[in-house]
Order: sequence, then C-alpha cells, then structure tokens
Amino acid sequence: MAGATVAAAGRPRDRYTSVAILLHWVIAALLLTNIWYGWQMEELRGLAKFNIFQLHKSLGITVLVLTVVRIAWRLTHRPPAYDPPLGRWEHLASKAVHVGFYVIMLGLPLTGWAVVSLSPTNIPTLLFKTIPWPHIEFLHDLPIATRRGLEDPVTESHHLLVKLTYALVILHVAGALKHTLVSRDGVLHRMLPLPFLRGRKA
Ligand code: HEM
Ligand code: HEM
Repeated sequence: MAGATVAAAGRPRDRYTSVAILLHWVIAALLLTNIWYGWQMEELRGLAKFNIFQLHKSLGITVLVLTVVRIAWRLTHRPPAYDPPLGRWEHLASKAVHVGFYVIMLGLPLTGWAVVSLSPTNIPTLLFKTIPWPHIEFLHDLPIATRRGLEDPVTESHHLLVKLTYALVILHVAGALKHTLVSRDGVLHRMLPLPFLRGRKA
C-alpha cells in the first residue's frame, strides 16, 4: 500500500505493494476457507468434529495474527491513488466496505476465541496440532454461571459477523467486477498478485 509517491523512473506507483497484496490474498483465502469449515463443523460428530474445530480455530487465529500485521502495514503505508479518481460516493462506499472488512477480520477471530474461552466444556486449543493457544483469561476466570450466560450472546455475535462477511464479500466482488467490466479503470489490477494475471490492465 505504498503511497502514490515516487517509484522507479519517477512515475507514480499505481499498485499496492507486494506485502499488501500477499496479505490481502492469504487472509481472503484463509477467511473464506474458514467459513466453509464453519459450515462443515455442525454436520460432523466425534473425532472428525474435534479435528475440524481445531483446524477452524487454527486458521482463525492465523487470520487474527496476519490482520494485526496488515493493520500495522496499513497504518504506515498509504494506498495507491486512484487514477482516474473515484467519485465522492464511490470513494465513501469502498472505504466503508474496507473498514467493514477490518472489523470482521478482527471481530470473527476475537468473538470465536471468546466463545471457546467462555465454554464450560473447557476444550484446549492446539494450533495446527502443535502450538498451545490460551483461553482469554479474564473470560475464562469468570464464575461458571456468568460464562454460561455470556456464551449464547457471544456465539450469536460470531454468527452475526459471518453474515456481515457475506454482505461485504458480495459488495466487494461486485465493486471489483464493476471496475473491471464497466469502468475499466484498473482498480482490480492494483491488487492482482501475479505478473501473468496483470498482463492486461484489469
Ligand atoms: C477467519 C476467522 C473465522 C471465521 C470466518 C469463522 C467462521 C465461522 C462460521 C461460518 C461458523 C459456523 C456458524 C454457523 O453455524 O452458522 C463458525 C462457528 C464457530 N467458530 Fe468460527 N470463525 C472464525 C474464527 C474462529 C476462531 C478463531 C475461533 C476460536 C478460537 C472460532 C470458534 C468458533 C466456534 C466455537 C464456533 C461454533 C459456534 C456455535 O456453536 O455455533 N471461530 N465460525
Ligand atoms: C474475504 C475476502 C476478502 C477480504 C477480507 C478483502 C479485504 C480487502 C480490504 C480490507 C481491502 C482494502 C485494502 C486497504 O486497506 O487499502 C481490499 C482491497 C481490494 N480487494 Fe479485497 N478482500 C477480499 C476478497 C477480494 C476478492 C475476491 C477480490 C477480487 C474479486 C478483491 C479485490 C480487491 C481489490 C481490487 C482491492 C483494491 C480496491 C481499492 O483499492 O479500492 N478482494 N480487500
């Protein structure tokens, strides 16, 4: 997300940096995969359910860690300028969707982690079958009756953020398609990872 400042040959840079692009696509892939695992979890039973839950928690915590890195990156790098500039309303709408994404990228893992920390079943988390991950201490230390009382509303907030994610993904992809097929202004091109994908200005 380096700014529209200098680049080689003195031309303004018009793309996100490689780090920003890598983080964007890795987080997007992990997040969408985790939604799929979330759907599967309910169907399974026994050891299969336990294993997929552990994988769900592992991918979710990975999204949390990468999002913290991404926010640090974002706060220290300006995104490339739009060329041509977006209209006022379009700019506001895309900003709102991006902010919404940062909310769910942090909120989904945090509410999921809170559900696990409140649960009276006390199932430990072992990320990728190797790294022990603690419960959120102040939630886990609450009296058991309080934990039971909080479990449902916090689970509900996890589900609500999943629904918000569906809405954001639809708007975001619709925006990318509009820029690619209608405006043809290269907005998608700014975020494409591989040179062969960028061969043509999207
Ligand atoms: C990228 C992050 C995450 C995404 C996209 C995600 C998505 C989902 C989805 C789609 C479901 C199923 C919801 C349903 O049945 O309607 C779910 C359930 C659940 N997730 Fe996550 N999740 C994420 C992170 C986490 C993390 C980090 C944890 C725990 C450390 C977690 C714990 C849970 C639990 C315990 C449930 C079952 C809740 C219930 O009883 O319905 N999630 N998640
Ligand atoms: C769950 C999946 C996704 C998430 C969480 C996500 C998140 C984001 C966020 C937060 C930004 C703003 C970056 C910034 O801070 O400046 C962004 C930009 C962008 N994303 Fe995604 N994205 C996802 C999927 C996709 C998909 C599937 C596409 C392509 C169809 C896409 C194309 C883009 C493009 C082109 C930009 C740059 C837009 C601009 O500069 O205005 N994203 N994405």
